[in-house]
Amino acid sequence: MYLSKEEERILNGEEGYARQKSMEILASLGDIYGADKLIPVTSCQIAGASYKTIGDAGLFFVSEFAKTSKIRVKATLNPIGMDSIGWQRMKIKKEFAEKQLEILDAYLKMGIDCSCTCTPYLIGNRPDCGEHIAWSESSAISFANSVLGAKTNREGGPSSLASSIIGKTPNYGFHLERNRKAGIIIDVKTEIKKFSDVGALGNYVGTIIGNKIPYFKNLSLDSDKLKSLGASMAASGSVALYHVEGLTPESNKAIDDDLEKIEVGKEEIEESKCKLNSSDDMELICIGCPHCSVGEVKEALNIFKKEGRTFKGDIWICTSRYVKNELERTGVAQELEKYAKLLADTCMVVAPIEDNYSRTATNSGKAAVYLPSLCKQKVRFGDLESLIKDFN
Ligand code: F3S
Repeated sequence: MYLSKEEERILNGEEGYARQKSMEILASLGDIYGADKLIPVTSCQIAGASYKTIGDAGLFFVSEFAKTSKIRVKATLNPIGMDSIGWQRMKIKKEFAEKQLEILDAYLKMGIDCSCTCTPYLIGNRPDCGEHIAWSESSAISFANSVLGAKTNREGGPSSLASSIIGKTPNYGFHLERNRKAGIIIDVKTEIKKFSDVGALGNYVGTIIGNKIPYFKNLSLDSDKLKSLGASMAASGSVALYHVEGLTPESNKAIDDDLEKIEVGKEEIEESKCKLNSSDDMELICIGCPHCSVGEVKEALNIFKKEGRTFKGDIWICTSRYVKNELERTGVAQELEKYAKLLADTCMVVAPIEDNYSRTATNSGKAAVYLPSLCKQKVRFGDLESLIKDFN
């Protein structure tokens, strides 16, 4: 990959350790994937922030970077392993909390916006259509590429951090128009209404299409459900971009004639739900993967009120600090606390829930995929209304 004189100087270490290492990461990626050059990015989203997932090695890595550099473009941080203020409510161990706060501190020192959410597009890091960005949270990547029409590859935590420090990314993959066309049509032949339907659809499609870009027909979803669909496909497969006919910004130019087509009906959705279920029993119910919007939390509150009782078991609703503050300002959070814990900065997957629970229920297709492997959980998958009906 071509490097300008200035980029070569950075690579030679003339601007310090963090900028040199960042340029090494970007140059290597560019060479591996055949990029012609580095291009400027307008925003970064950095995953790899939970002590549970990055451990002491990750803490060392970000601390070293924090000693010698600051970011050059807007960058937001993914969820961490606990609510940074209310971590005791999650039964988090003190040793874990201390390490987690050190990681947070290192990111803060670099100038990163430690909003700790996987839905940065709901709180101000919302790129416009056509903007080049470097994001590394799979559900956020899918939303940015598909729903916003921004352009990002599926970055890892270190490469998105490197991009935030250099302000650039290698020009390949989804940054190039020609790589953003649909590879398969998904004709939806059944009603997709609830979050669990969306999660099951995403899980089914992600599992069967490999690395093709899906183009959905006959699908009408609001923005919250689109974020859930992308998250589910990214978890069960490697989908980082999808199009929905008449809904997503590139759908009118993303499709060629004679594409392979598959139909998804009720049977496939039910089969997918069955596969995501490994438990009838549940100790914890979690929603908010990806992090809930204000609207989703209000919807959950209505469901609890309709059920008309409180619960002995734990219910977590995961969201960003920004959304939590907004819900506190309007009194929704206070009303919700009667039924569930509203947690900010974290989620059921990157928090060490396995220390306290072994059977977790969720309405999220993404969480249902990761809870068994990353959190040693048996999973009950379903929509919130049906889950709470069977919950004590
Ligand atoms: Fe977000 Fe955690 Fe799900 S980071 S997408 S809530 S696994």
